[in-house]
Amino acid sequence: MISLLDRQVVFFGGKGGVGKTTCSSAFALAASRRGQRVLLVSTDPAHSTSDIFERPIGPEEREIEPRLRAIEIDALRESARYVGEVKRDIERMFAPAVIRQAHRQIDMAAASPGLADVALLDRMIDLIIEREARYDLIVFDTAPTGHTVQLLRMPEVMETWIRALVKHRRALVEIDRGTENQDEAVSSSDDPVLAALERRHERLKLLRARVLDRANTSFVLVTIPERLAIEETARAAELLAATGIGVGALIVNRILPDDLEGEFYRSRKAQESQYLQELTRRFSRVRRTDVRQLPHDVYGLASLALISEQLLR
Ligand SMILES: Nc1ncnc2c1ncn2[C@@H]1O[C@H](COP(=O)(O)OP(=O)(O)OP(=O)(O)O)[C@@H](O)[C@H]1O
Ligand SMILES: [Mg+2]
Repeated sequence: MISLLDRQVVFFGGKGGVGKTTCSSAFALAASRRGQRVLLVSTDPAHSTSDIFERPIGPEEREIEPRLRAIEIDALRESARYVGEVKRDIERMFAPAVIRQAHRQIDMAAASPGLADVALLDRMIDLIIEREARYDLIVFDTAPTGHTVQLLRMPEVMETWIRALVKHRRALVEIDRGTENQDEAVSSSDDPVLAALERRHERLKLLRARVLDRANTSFVLVTIPERLAIEETARAAELLAATGIGVGALIVNRILPDDLEGEFYRSRKAQESQYLQELTRRFSRVRRTDVRQLPHDVYGLASLALISEQLLR
């Protein structure tokens, strides 16, 4: 994991409950204590970063330590903000009668789960692109695997969509202007809507370039030595590979201690060692970091630091 400290963006993903919040928080803490300015972003509606740092964190950046800040973003809140922005865009574009109709349609679309994803992605772009001057590293604690990877694939889809919109809008503006400037291409400086669409397009292109740049962005997969978690990790790794996103590390969390006694423990430990061998075999090309199960659950800075130590060992 030490090699990931020089990235600008690191995503933590994995199956529910394997330790994504624990490991991403510990990694962010470790990086900040080594001198980096770090922002930890939680996209999980359960807001567990507040629990782990034992203080309320919200939709505004909150300082945890001198170089560590955290923020919890919420898909529902982001949806409302996003819908507001889209409505304002449309108000600039159309006559009042059309606007009323359009608003009804947008309100219907706003109820669909897809919109929450678009809004969340939009907010992630904000954080990645617009705050890079203030942070050396942005760490994302994500909601369970499949979903986040799908989200990271979205710029691809949205780019096509936005490009079509830009083309359409440009044609409209050209018709509007009539024949006087036929030779001149319509530029975004002539039209606020075109400018807005192009800004969005540029932002998506930037995000895509960032996420696919392995020197800049990494995805860390967190798992535990158990059957279902391993299978889900394999699926996530495939999806990431197909998207072109680099897997920077595999964290195997909750490894049992070596020195316990008893039949129950021996049986669990034997099973664990088989799964660890399987992980070595199936993820031979990914750097692996093992994290031991602590005798207590992990919250508070002192307890997090014990996980940090293991991550950067
Ligand atoms: N190495 C560990 N030793 C002891 N307890 C751990 C360890 N890792 C995680 N835990 C505990 O396991 C629970 C789940 O961890 P965590 O919340 O980090 O998982 P998660 O993947 O973020 O879950 P979710 O999918 O719900 O967001 C927490 O109570 C945490 O304290
Ligand atoms: Mg979590």
